[in-house]
Amino acid sequence: MKITVIGAGNVGATAAQRIADKELANEVVLIDVVEGMPQGKGLDMYESAPVEGSDTHVIGANSYDATANSDIVVITAGIARKPGMSRDDLQATNAGIVKSVTEQAAAHSPNAILIVVSNPLDVMTYVAWKVSKFPRHRVMGMAGVLDSARFRAFISMELNVSVEDITAFVLGGHGDSMVPLPRYSTVAGIPLPDLMDQATIDRLVKRTRDGGIEIVNFLKTGSAYYAPSSSAVQMVEAIVKDKKRILPSAVMLGGEYGMKDVVVGVPIKIGKKGMEEIIQIKLTADEQAALNKSATDVKASIAKLNI
Ligand code: NAI
Ligand code: 2OP
Repeated sequence: MKITVIGAGNVGATAAQRIADKELANEVVLIDVVEGMPQGKGLDMYESAPVEGSDTHVIGANSYDATANSDIVVITAGIARKPGMSRDDLQATNAGIVKSVTEQAAAHSPNAILIVVSNPLDVMTYVAWKVSKFPRHRVMGMAGVLDSARFRAFISMELNVSVEDITAFVLGGHGDSMVPLPRYSTVAGIPLPDLMDQATIDRLVKRTRDGGIEIVNFLKTGSAYYAPSSSAVQMVEAIVKDKKRILPSAVMLGGEYGMKDVVVGVPIKIGKKGMEEIIQIKLTADEQAALNKSATDVKASIAKLNI
């Protein structure tokens, strides 16, 4: 198993470290445009391997030759948000970056599964799908795992219960129109609406929607990366171990949920082939309307692309 992580910044480097610490690959290649930086971070990580007891070899490079025949490519290259910026403000810059890195990654690893992290997530996943010309089951975007993890963390803080017992589901785009589903969110199997009143649920849903900007406002110089890297690596692990996990992820829809030609977050089964199935759950009219609105927003952004 060979995994390439493109973008050796906060999310990419932390993801590479988590992959190595979990020994999910024989080799991890960290790529960045900044000369020396991925090499330095890669070597530093490799030097932690004896302590961590991991035989994953991490190397850094600026050239894609080192990435040849990767099984999985995680794309984190691009600029991140600063206070006052929305994810959509990143689109023009990141579309060019994601197009360029996808072209090079796909040429060197034509059979890879792509996991996109760069923002705005749904649109960048569309760019990677379009540019790579890969079948849709080999191009997935990470957002739903992160948004659901944030919702779970906030439920845990509210009820003072273990995060392990909490499941939560967030669908839709990775933006202001994301669609948390409280009735599919449970604590030890007990639906959330049986455990807290609507006002509390609404407060936690709002905090989840604003979860990205909450961290940006603290950090001021960039955006979240610990939870985002964990979330991307959970998707990597599902592929590497062929776990058949059901995780909310951004994928191209082809009629599912009544939508096509758009990337939006839905529950999918992830295994060694990538996206192995789109799980279609029955939504209420309000939930479907919220998902439609999310998809409409993503489509409007896709229409502005010049790729
Ligand atoms: P960062 O600024 O720490 O790292 C980005 C890295 O990309 C930098 O090292 C930069 O040199 C590199 N880069 C730029 N152009 C490149 C190119 N053409 N080829 C290779 N590398 C290139 O940013 P961070 O915090 O790691 O975030 C990365 C991206 O992920 C951002 O767009 C951010 O908004 C997004 N993000 C998405 C999340 C999600 O839930 N989908 C969560 C967190 C971040
Ligand atoms: C987040 O939600 C920046 O999209 C990233 O933290």
